[in-house]
Amino acid sequence: MNSNTAMNHQRLSDRIINMGESATLKMAQLARELTAQGHKIISLSLGEPDFDTPEHIKKAASKALEDGYTKYTPVAGLLELRQAICTKFERDNKLKYTATQIVVSNGAKQCIANLSMSLLQEGDEAIVLSPYWVSYKEIIELSGAVPVFVKGSIEQDFKATAAQVSSAITANTRMLIFSSPCNPTGSVFTREELKAIADVLVDHPQITIVSDEIYEYINFTGEPHISIAEFDFIKDRVVIVNGFSKGFAMTGWRLGYIAAPQWIADACVKMQGQFTSGAASFSQKAAVTALLADLTPSFKMTEEFHKRRDLFVKLLSEIPGFKVNNPTGAFYVFPDVSYYYGKADGSHKINNADDLCDYLLYTGHVALVSGDAFGAPECVRLSYSLGQEDLREAVKRIREAVLKLS
Ligand SMILES: Cc1ncc(COP(=O)(O)O)c(C=O)c1O
Repeated sequence: MNSNTAMNHQRLSDRIINMGESATLKMAQLARELTAQGHKIISLSLGEPDFDTPEHIKKAASKALEDGYTKYTPVAGLLELRQAICTKFERDNKLKYTATQIVVSNGAKQCIANLSMSLLQEGDEAIVLSPYWVSYKEIIELSGAVPVFVKGSIEQDFKATAAQVSSAITANTRMLIFSSPCNPTGSVFTREELKAIADVLVDHPQITIVSDEIYEYINFTGEPHISIAEFDFIKDRVVIVNGFSKGFAMTGWRLGYIAAPQWIADACVKMQGQFTSGAASFSQKAAVTALLADLTPSFKMTEEFHKRRDLFVKLLSEIPGFKVNNPTGAFYVFPDVSYYYGKADGSHKINNADDLCDYLLYTGHVALVSGDAFGAPECVRLSYSLGQEDLREAVKRIREAVLKLS
């Protein structure tokens, strides 16, 4: 067998070759490697709460195991959980759904994959409000469609306007996706901003609106969470994506869900039925408890994030050259650091956000994520999902490192 034949046997699909690696997971991996070598790395790259899952939810999972919840579940999720999700929508969002409109998946990530694979195909365009969560782009491209980015600048708190959305719509637009509160910017759209976008979309019935609300409970605006599905004139075209990872500190439990028009929910069940089937049975039982029990642990977690946000934004704003806005949700700050591009510390030349992140990791032992992967190469994403002492130390290290750049 010649080497050419051997290579042909190892051919990967264009699909996987063209797919970008998850920048956040890559940075977390690099940080772990340096930690294993004995360095004390402070990781600001994580997309998960540092809190443990509340005790009553863990107990519910143990009980579910003891009660024999160890088998396959219906593809769309246990009826009991889908009913609890309907209760949550009525309680928190004043939105009515039937259990058949709810599909439970292995994390919100799978919800978005189900939706893209079910709704998009070659020749379609999907508008992505930018900066955006890394996986939207890759998942949309995997479906054959083209992502069209509509970017909000830091001066507009990274929130794209209705006018910007309007000018990005073409006859091929089939989907619009965004998160609020937003990963990576922490921005929260106001009722007026969402209403203006809904007013634009109402004239384009071929567009499905995917509203990723996974950070719903981590909101410091003092106002109730607002979903674009609350506008009656557009609700039948909105899919809400939500999940348990962030608000209940349950990232490892792998549970997300959608509330969707029936025809879309049915398609997602069909898609999921071929890929993974129903989500883990005992995770689902615990999730019923998470939704229906007292939400105080979630609100306490949000209070702590709020305090950290105040501290972190203040300290980061004091670093020369960092342009920082005031995020009102999630647990990220997304400063513009382009002031440092073109500067160098000896042989370390900083050309872009990737270089700055590498420099800060290897020189300052602080891990953060380049904004490039989120559609904003002038920015970096810092997660404040760690204690206040670590946050202070991280900012000290960043400051010392960047001040060496000239
Ligand atoms: C905006 C957004 N959507 C979806 C997800 C996926 O969450 P899950 O853990 O439920 O798959 C994340 C996780 O980081 C996220 O930030």
